[in-house]
Amino acid sequence: MSEPRVLVVFFSRTGTTRMLASTLARMLSADLEEICDCTERRGALGYLRCLMDSWRRRPAGIVPAALDTAQYDLVVVGTPVWGGSVSAPIRAYLLENRSKFRHVAFFCSFGGLGSQAAFDEMRELAGRAPVAQCAVRAAEVQRGVVAASLALFVSILKRHLTHYAALEWTC
Ligand SMILES: Cc1cc2nc3c(=O)[nH]c(=O)nc-3n(C[C@H](O)[C@H](O)[C@H](O)COP(=O)(O)O)c2cc1C
Repeated sequence: MSEPRVLVVFFSRTGTTRMLASTLARMLSADLEEICDCTERRGALGYLRCLMDSWRRRPAGIVPAALDTAQYDLVVVGTPVWGGSVSAPIRAYLLENRSKFRHVAFFCSFGGLGSQAAFDEMRELAGRAPVAQCAVRAAEVQRGVVAASLALFVSILKRHLTHYAALEWTC
């Protein structure tokens, strides 16, 4: 029986979602992939571009992912919340990969508003329901309590992976 393969994929503009993603990858012994987009998003103009993309529900142009989504049993996708919405680079990633997912889970970092709306969109874009989802406030990440915020999420994912591996072995 081979170990289930897990991939953590994320986009981060200012490092908060990156911190969550790298902690998650460590906790799940997963591969890690950062999505890079082709739009300048630094500064005030960059902030406005993010908002415009989210209001228009516009996917970003992204650099092709290095790791093949289809090779993973579980893909855990993370985004910052932008204007009560999923970020444009993760919108593009989900659209481009929706036919390749076996199981998905979602996480986001946010200021305090709109995480459920972002998760609802991610579910729609991925074309499947997540095994679990987890929203972490940026303030918690800055306080350095990331592992505690992710503990329940990780335990649900590990339980799912154990169950999934047992089913694969039986079939
Ligand atoms: C353009 C833009 C829009 C945002 N909109 C929201 C929002 O609607 N709700 C919210 O709680 N936080 C919002 N935020 C805050 C980010 O979600 C939060 O700071 C997040 O942790 C940033 O993640 P990152 O550092 O990985 O880019 C917004 C940030 C940006 C840049």
